[in-house]
Amino acid sequence: MTSNPKIEALRIKRAQSHAGGGAERVAKQRENGRHTAHERLDILLDPGSFRELDAFVTHRAHDFGMDKKKHYGDSVVTGWGTINGRLVYTFSQDFTVIGGSLSEVHAQKIIKIMEMALKVGAPVIGLNDSGGARIQEGVVSLGGYADIFLRNTLSSGVVPQISLIMGPCAGGAVYSPALTDFIIMVKDTSYMYITGPDVVKTVTHEDVTHEELGGAMIHATRSGVCHLVADNETQALMLARELMSFLPQNNMEDPPFVPTNDDPLRADVELDSIIPDNPNKPYDMKEVVRRVVDDGHFFEIHEFFAQNIVVGFARLGGHSVGIIANQPQVLAGVLDIDASEKAARFIRFCDAFNLPIITFVDVPGYMPGTAQEYGGIIRAGAKLLYAYCEATVPKLTVTTRKSYGGAYCVMSSKHLRGDLNLAWPTAEIAVMGPDGAVNIVFRQELKDADDAVAKKAEMVQEYREKFASPYVAAERGFIDDIIEPGETRARLINGLEVFQNKRDSNPARKHGNIPL
Ligand code: HXC
Repeated sequence: MTSNPKIEALRIKRAQSHAGGGAERVAKQRENGRHTAHERLDILLDPGSFRELDAFVTHRAHDFGMDKKKHYGDSVVTGWGTINGRLVYTFSQDFTVIGGSLSEVHAQKIIKIMEMALKVGAPVIGLNDSGGARIQEGVVSLGGYADIFLRNTLSSGVVPQISLIMGPCAGGAVYSPALTDFIIMVKDTSYMYITGPDVVKTVTHEDVTHEELGGAMIHATRSGVCHLVADNETQALMLARELMSFLPQNNMEDPPFVPTNDDPLRADVELDSIIPDNPNKPYDMKEVVRRVVDDGHFFEIHEFFAQNIVVGFARLGGHSVGIIANQPQVLAGVLDIDASEKAARFIRFCDAFNLPIITFVDVPGYMPGTAQEYGGIIRAGAKLLYAYCEATVPKLTVTTRKSYGGAYCVMSSKHLRGDLNLAWPTAEIAVMGPDGAVNIVFRQELKDADDAVAKKAEMVQEYREKFASPYVAAERGFIDDIIEPGETRARLINGLEVFQNKRDSNPARKHGNIPL
């Protein structure tokens, strides 16, 4: 115990700041299954590493009773700490203080840490729990959000930005996360919407619950806004910690190398029989990925959205990599609008942060039909092409089975600066599948034939032998090597080591114009 009254006063003020909106509101927060802003930081960061800034800042508004609602620190806790010893900047919005709403000073606190993070090259992790712009501060708080949006954008591709949604987030509290790289939501207790159910009822007369409008699974499955879903807050914070382990601190660094006991030369003979004899039968591409990567560990992103393509992080020989894989188990692995956008965004993240891109290909093509055409499959599909074309990180590709049509071109082909393009002997690389090809090329012959069924079967077989293999592509050098499936891991790790210092560049320009 100190007897110095000034130190005593500091302690009291700090405790007041720490107490947020008071015992009653904190109790309500807990009743709703949520932690306080400080508790969340304690879970996210290494023990004892958090250093708070601006704990004594107070808001400046007076109208609408705001002069009686002053809290030290206002409605957000900001500072830095470490995750597995690595520096991160973080803010944690405090819903117990005026609904975590964003005041002028709340915005300034966030901007301060964002600018520090950009200056020193460290990631920013935002714990969002806010009703959006503080109504009582009007345009000043709108301006505060716009100031944050600008920093989100300027930081994009320079330092990783991760957003966790920890409560009902509305307005600017969803647009700032939307500008960041990853959004993690908590089932049953976190929501994202531009405005809540009450306003929706007034404007569109729709009756929706918080869950239906903006719950975690809605955004994970339907809108694609949410990248990772957690069962509770602690799991969400642990996901953020794990996600960080795959990422570099900034765009000038390589991702962390994590040594493994998993032998880089480990062969997996099970892979030799994973492709079914019937080319139309599905298999689980995630099983292929898990069998190839270090310790079978695949950290999947966007697991519930556009499941016909799989993306996520893993390590190969200790090197952090981004995986993109068609999933024959869902819609035969076809590329549609959602799958194209999901993969394109992931590829651009990997490219920005020096993560080599490993692509597993088994794709029958782009999805045809009016729904896709009207929805803009041309524009969305072009995003995926664009993302693969512009990426300059090492690009390693394994074609396991189908690689037809435009999908051959797009899935990290040699022509798009693929560095190492491998194929399994089961690969089928052609303009289209045997059935479609025979129907088009021999339409007249089949019409005229007495025994059309037998004739077609014969032609399909001939086509399959001639075109539906990796050998035609390999003859041209479009495929660098045809490998036994079991040796995939060893070949990819070797490829990563060979290409880790590769240099590719794009022409100097202000920026490209990806077809958004
Ligand atoms: C001031 C706010 C507030 C806000 C909540 N509160 N949102 N105060 N400004 N934006 C206060 C409430 O008055 C209440 O104070 C306390 O926070 C808790 O809120 P509740 O409504 O009791 O909580 P809950 O029932 O859980 O509902 C949470 C909510 C709801 C869904 C977030 O509060 C809500 O709909 N808020 C408004 C959301 C919104 O439309 N924001 C958009 C702002 S515009 P007391 O004292 O009663 O405890 C914006 C534009 C940015 O952000 C630019 C975008 C491009």
